Amino acid sequence: MKKRFRVWVYKEGEPPIFHRGPMNDIYSIEGQFIDELESDKSPFLAKHPNQALVFFLPISVVNIIVYVYRPYTNYSRARLQNIVKDYIDLVSHRYPYWNRSQGADHFLLSCHDWAPDVSSAYPRLFKHLIRVLCNANTSEGFQPLRDVPLPEIKIPYGKLGQAHMGQPHNKRSIFAFFAGGDHGYARSILFRCWKGKDKDIQVHDYLPKTLNYSASMSQSMYCLCPSGYEVASPRVVESIYAGCVPVIISDDYVLPFSDVLNWTQISVHITISKIPCLKEILKGISMKDYLEKQRRVIQVQRHFVIHRPAKPYDLMYMVMHSLWLRRLNLRLTP
Ligand SMILES: *[C@@H]1O[C@H](CO)[C@@H](O)[C@H](O)[C@H]1NC(C)=O
Ligand SMILES: *[C@@H]1O[C@H](CO)[C@@H](O)[C@H](O)[C@H]1NC(C)=O
Ligand SMILES: *[C@@H]1O[C@H](CO)[C@@H](O)[C@H](O)[C@H]1NC(C)=O
Ligand SMILES: *[C@@H]1O[C@H](CO)[C@@H](O)[C@H](O)[C@H]1NC(C)=O
Repeated sequence: MKKRFRVWVYKEGEPPIFHRGPMNDIYSIEGQFIDELESDKSPFLAKHPNQALVFFLPISVVNIIVYVYRPYTNYSRARLQNIVKDYIDLVSHRYPYWNRSQGADHFLLSCHDWAPDVSSAYPRLFKHLIRVLCNANTSEGFQPLRDVPLPEIKIPYGKLGQAHMGQPHNKRSIFAFFAGGDHGYARSILFRCWKGKDKDIQVHDYLPKTLNYSASMSQSMYCLCPSGYEVASPRVVESIYAGCVPVIISDDYVLPFSDVLNWTQISVHITISKIPCLKEILKGISMKDYLEKQRRVIQVQRHFVIHRPAKPYDLMYMVMHSLWLRRLNLRLTP
């Protein structure tokens, strides 16, 4: 893949809506990717569009929301949808590539909750476009064979979060841990069933000042990662970094890299309706099986780390690999 997989980034459009995205906080993966593909150091870039296997539409949905929608006067998605449509119109008139494949070798990448809505106004135009999305909700039109799930990562200001191993398994004194806001219905059920009720299942809303969030994850065997306002949560990557086995609590969520990673071996996945049985389910996992999962979590950490420029087997390579797998299915008629 490394030798042949090359991306052409269209040059049309001006920042900040095009060619630039958020580099920190929860949507940062969007800006980091745009920035990587805009930098001449990236290992993925094609020198000429004729060498490219895929074409990138360098549009930041987050920056459209920030610059076009602020102050929030309305929540209509029409302006967002039209900006993307106009961009596709522009490049499909100027170059032969979009028409050649009907967009099937083109991709758009975003971590914003609204990103899936981009394509809903013009379903024919977007029929084949590959959408790389954090919000990989199959009930909202995410198609696992065409689209690519993107991990959500909260990148602190001024640094790329690095995986640290956390405590060895025998020093993990917390059985299961969660801290976070009451966002969305999965969280409400989690709080109702478990907040302040059980010493093994430690569910907090905002964490007391005396406790340290990442240290608590490093001291936990299981880290709960319920969906919030959307399916993805940065906790999945945070718990992998902390060497804590993620317990993914979601419905209709397609997990990142599931083409190559077997999530059953590195996590526990439960549906929202099973939240009341959480303790029973986790206590039902034998120590041997737990240790096997935890060992594999440590093994896959490198696939969730971001390097700039990207390095083999890191997160950006994994996303590119997911794109490559989808692109292999495509035969272009000359
Ligand atoms: C691509 O197709 C559109 C719609 O059919 C057409 O208007 C446009 O000129 C075509 N682009 C090129 C480069 O031929
Ligand atoms: C929280 O713990 C992490 C290590 O687990 C440490 O790097 C960080 O400095 C701690 N933060 C605070 C505010 O103590
Ligand atoms: C997934 O999409 C469905 C349909 O739009 C929605 O009802 C559900 O709330 C979404 N899931 C999350 C966690 O946002
Ligand atoms: C994933 O791992 C589980 C547990 O080891 C196994 O039962 C399952 O067959 C694997 N799935 C695939 C697709 O390999």
